[in-house]
Amino acid sequence: MSVQKLDAAGKKAGTVSLETRDLTIRFGGHVAVNAVSCAFKTGTLTAIVGPNGAGKTTYFNLISGQLNASAGQVLLNGRDISRLQASARMHAGLGRAFQLTSLFPRLTVLENVRLALQSKRQMGLDMWNIWSSHKDLIARAEEVLEAVALTAKRNMYAAALPHGDQRKLEVALLMALDPTVYMFDEPTAGMSVDEVPVILDLIRMLKTKTDKTILLVEHKMDVVRELADRIIVLHNGTLMADGEPEAVIASPVVQQAYLGLAPVGEAA
Ligand SMILES: Nc1ncnc2c1ncn2[C@@H]1O[C@H](COP(=O)(O)OP(=O)(O)OP(=O)(O)O)[C@@H](O)[C@H]1O
Ligand SMILES: [Mg+2]
Repeated sequence: MSVQKLDAAGKKAGTVSLETRDLTIRFGGHVAVNAVSCAFKTGTLTAIVGPNGAGKTTYFNLISGQLNASAGQVLLNGRDISRLQASARMHAGLGRAFQLTSLFPRLTVLENVRLALQSKRQMGLDMWNIWSSHKDLIARAEEVLEAVALTAKRNMYAAALPHGDQRKLEVALLMALDPTVYMFDEPTAGMSVDEVPVILDLIRMLKTKTDKTILLVEHKMDVVRELADRIIVLHNGTLMADGEPEAVIASPVVQQAYLGLAPVGEAA
């Protein structure tokens, strides 16, 4: 099936930071992601939508390396990273939120960020290095905490933070790794009404960084409408539509397959 290109989105100028080519995975006879080819440009936020079981999370798993593809490639800044382990892909610049990062509950907020920065710099156990650049790390950690509005809580233990602040800290840890590509899979799922705006604000803040690329799987169409520069639609593992938000949302193919409306002429 050919992809419905709903505008000239794919042709606009800009550097491609992430690309998948014919990316495919089969589980037994079931093709969960089917030859998905898509290029994501630097400085854009792409929402990935589609019904439950469409293959969105599996597509993320193939990009971040939690799953190995049956066929196809993942390219990051033009480099084929398809054979790399998830951790190597993370070091190459793929940042998957709420998955790679786990908090150290018995360390303070600041120490958590400092450790993430340290792992990014791959200092390992070289004590002299750690000591000599300690001040530099703390300064950078303070900057990251400022960006996620956790400065006032920098000396609290991570375990003592309210849930919403823990999610902010997880974003801070991800930012400390300074990835090229941020991937969020239903970032507001399971959050309380107060916590949702906190996470959306963080994504808005990341969106202002023109050197970053954001992929967002999200079911809430109001969120998608506000944040996305582009929407791609997956359905039965296949890329079904791709284009600017309003055009994609309005398209009959999406209205029928995703929003569950009956095809024109079909009895309700
Ligand atoms: N490890 C696996 N083994 C077998 N089947 C799998 C595996 N992972 C995913 N699938 C199947 O692949 C299909 C796509 O699942 P996926 O979780 O990617 O959907 P999704 O679009 O993220 O759905 P949701 O919106 O509910 O999160 C489903 O049919 C699922 O059962
Ligand atoms: Mg999913």
